[in-house]
This record gives sequence, structure tokens and C-alpha cells, in this order.
Amino acid sequence: MVATTIPVDTFDLVIIGGTGDLARRKILPGLFRRMCAGQMPDTARVIGASRTDLDQTAFQEFVREALSEFAGETQCDEGAVDRFLTMLDYVPLDVFGDAGWKALKSKLRPDVIRAVYFSVGPSLFGEIARKLTAHKVTDENSRIVVEKPFGHDLETAQLLNAELRDCFKEDQIYRIDHYLGKETVQNLMAVRFGNALFEPLWNAQHVDHVQITVGETVDVDGRGAYYDKSGAMRDMVQNHIMQLLCLCAMEPPSKYGADAVRDEKLKVIRALEPVSAKDVVRGQYGSDDGVARYTDHAGDPKSKTESFLAMKVNVANWRWAGTPFYIRTGKRLRARMSEIAIIFKDPPHSIFEGQPDRKGNVLIIRLQPDEGITLRVTIKEPGPGGMRLTEVPLDMTFAEALGDQVAFMPDAYERLIMDVIRGDQTLFMRGDEVEAAWAWVDPIIQAWQAAGDTPAQYDPSGSGPEDSLMLLHRDGRRWREIKT
Ligand code: BG6
Repeated sequence: MVATTIPVDTFDLVIIGGTGDLARRKILPGLFRRMCAGQMPDTARVIGASRTDLDQTAFQEFVREALSEFAGETQCDEGAVDRFLTMLDYVPLDVFGDAGWKALKSKLRPDVIRAVYFSVGPSLFGEIARKLTAHKVTDENSRIVVEKPFGHDLETAQLLNAELRDCFKEDQIYRIDHYLGKETVQNLMAVRFGNALFEPLWNAQHVDHVQITVGETVDVDGRGAYYDKSGAMRDMVQNHIMQLLCLCAMEPPSKYGADAVRDEKLKVIRALEPVSAKDVVRGQYGSDDGVARYTDHAGDPKSKTESFLAMKVNVANWRWAGTPFYIRTGKRLRARMSEIAIIFKDPPHSIFEGQPDRKGNVLIIRLQPDEGITLRVTIKEPGPGGMRLTEVPLDMTFAEALGDQVAFMPDAYERLIMDVIRGDQTLFMRGDEVEAAWAWVDPIIQAWQAAGDTPAQYDPSGSGPEDSLMLLHRDGRRWREIKT
């Protein structure tokens, strides 16, 4: 089965920071893959812009190398790379001065979709927005794309929003959280709202608790300077995990549309209870056999930044009162494993005498690796000998169920860039959502800073600090194992 792709209308996409890491690894290879899949028309244009002094040919060579390194397996024919390169152009640009803006404007066509990707740090967002409008590179129909980190706290996020809104309307601003572009994250909505089976059970009456885990094996080597100012809370929880929690906890939106979905997510964020210190566990990876520890990568032996965070989160509304969401994320853990597990309550009464107590059903939505869905159910053990019960997984990996469609599935960035061109903001964060998330996160951070909290050391290749296990044990629950 081969995926059907619906081509988007032609467009001009400007990538400011066009020679940067994100452009090289994700944006440009992603566009190339979309062209190969027949989604990006040959008439589209991609204009790189940055302070690096290149001409069109040099930029094309830069992109050729990026594609050979990062495009991965594609459905491309032989001449595809050359065809893609002809769509590219380049303008050297001075963000703080006036050089390059006129040239950039002259490269853009008047009657096609126009989008500008800010593939740069957030400290430049305001200046770029002002320059784009002052030099009329953009107009009221253009779209802009910005990346996390969207602020460092509520105050900086409000400032960024204000700077962007001075120049653009909210429906022109596409704030990327790449987790929303992940196939299985969208599948969470499909599973919940495309089936009649789950939604009646999706509440505190039937769900014991929810576990959201984003475990990584990578460390922060090479990005310690950024990471040490963020930590797991700002780097993963305020954005990616918050989005997962929202999609999991939200009420059914009236339709799958940008404002309907985002209104419901916002209500969840606003319903999150403040988290007390006893419900937060922070950790820092230590070292095994002389391999660098977190503080080595951070370049600060006294760093108190967390590379692991686990929390118990309560959503204070009718649907979820009494059913906690446990979330955890960390670097250098035993395995790369990201999943959402919905743990249903035990059956209220067992009719099977002499059988051990049955556990509740568990629905697991695996984000990565091996994206798929598993439902753990109780069945009878086969064969004679009376009624003996056992638990089995009803397992579906997307790769098995959907074959080729999965092999060439667009990655998160590809999908989101195509959504920008289509003008669909459903999978992008609205300004008020981002601010509400910071408003919830800030006091938690402030509390541990005020208390001078020091993260507990944890063994690399483990599951995080001991205390994170206690977070569930004391509630009579246990984490699902982190494993591949
Ligand atoms: C990024 C974080 O936003 O997401 C990284 O800054 C993290 O620290 C990454 O490793 C995880 O993304 P993915 O797609 O690999 O799960």
C-alpha cells in the first residue's frame, strides 16, 4: 500500500538561518522528501538567507551535501536532487542592518503562498519580524514559522508573542512543536475520537492513572551550554510533554480544526493543579566507567540543572479528578522509549475463583521507536484444565499494519511545513497555549530554585533516580519498565 499525497499549491519559502543546523538536518532534507513524494510542486521556490556570504551556486552545493547526509531513504528518481537544487536560491542577509532585505523581496513572487521560517534563536525573532514588515518582504497574507524555545518563562514568552503580534496576526504565526507532527501523536486523536470504543471509558471513573514517558539514551554533549539553562522542564515538559498530556486529557473538540482543538488543549493547561515539591523528582545523569557525567557536558561542576524529571500531575476537572497523570523524561536512560500508557481500573469483581486478581487493561500508544498501539487484555489460557486466566497484548505496530506507507511516512518537520503551506494551524501552538504552559511551569521551577534543590544523581543506562520510583510506589502503583 503506497501513501497517497495531496500536492500543495506552489509557494515561496524563505528560510532565515538557511545555512544553520536545523535547515541542514531537517528543513531542507524534509522539503526534498516532500518533492520526491509528489507533494511539493516543481514550481515551488526555497530561498535560503543568512549572514553567511554565499551565492546561489554555493548554497546549492551546501544543500546537495546536506541531502546526501540527511535525506535518508526516499522515493526519488535519479534526477531528483538536481531538480530540487534548481528550486533553490540564496540571499546574504543582515538581520540587524538593512543589507539584503531588498534583494530578498525582489526574489519573491507576488501571487503565491509566502512563508518565512525563522530558523534562528528566539532572541532574533522580534528584529526579524520588524525587518520583514518594514521592508515589505511579508504582507498580511504571509505566514511565519518559529521554533522552540518559545521563551524561557512566562515573561519572556509574553514579550516574544507581543513582538511577533506587533507585525503579524495570530493566524499568520506558526509556532512549531515537532511532537505535534509525529504520526502517533496525531494517532492519539484518531484513536480517541475516531472510535466509539475508548471515549466512554476515557475518564476518572474508568482510568486509574496515565503514564507519559519520553525516555532518551542521548546525553547533552555538544549542547550543554543551551541545555544547562533549560533542563528537562523547559526543554521537554513545558512543550512536548505538555502537548501529549493535553491531547490525552482534552475534551472532544467539536471538529478537527485549529481553534477547536487548541481551545480544548488550553482548557486542560488551565485546569492543571499547581505541583507541590513532594510530587517532583529531578535527576542528573552520573557517570559509569569514566564516561562523562552531566556536569561535564554542562561545563559546570556545580550545575543544578535536571536532565531527568518525573512529576505527578493532577488535572482539576470533572473528567480527571482523582486520576493522576505521571510524567517523566530523561536523557541517558536505559532505552529510547516514548509512550503514553492509559492504565484502566481493575475489574470491580472477579467471578473466577482461585485465579489471581486481574489487572486492569492497559492501552499503550507508542510514539517511538516502533510506533504503534497495544491493548493489554485478559484472556483464558488455552487448553483444558479449567478456567485459567492470562494477559496478552493486542499488538499493532504501524510498520506491520501499514507497510510501505510507514517506510516513507513524512517526519514531523516535513508534515508541519506542508501544513504551513496549506494554512492549517491545527498542529501548531497558539500564543495563549504557550503562555498558559509557562504560567503553570514557572512556579514549579521557582519553588525548587528557592529551596536550592539539588537533582539526585542517577546511573546512566538506568530508569532515572530511585525517588522517581517512589513517586508511584507510595500511591500503590509502578512505572512501566523503560525498555526497547
Ligand atoms: C528537542 C529537545 O526539542 O526534542 C531535545 O530540545 C530532545 O533535547 C528532542 O532530544 C527529542 O525529540 P525526538 O523527536 O528525538 O523525540
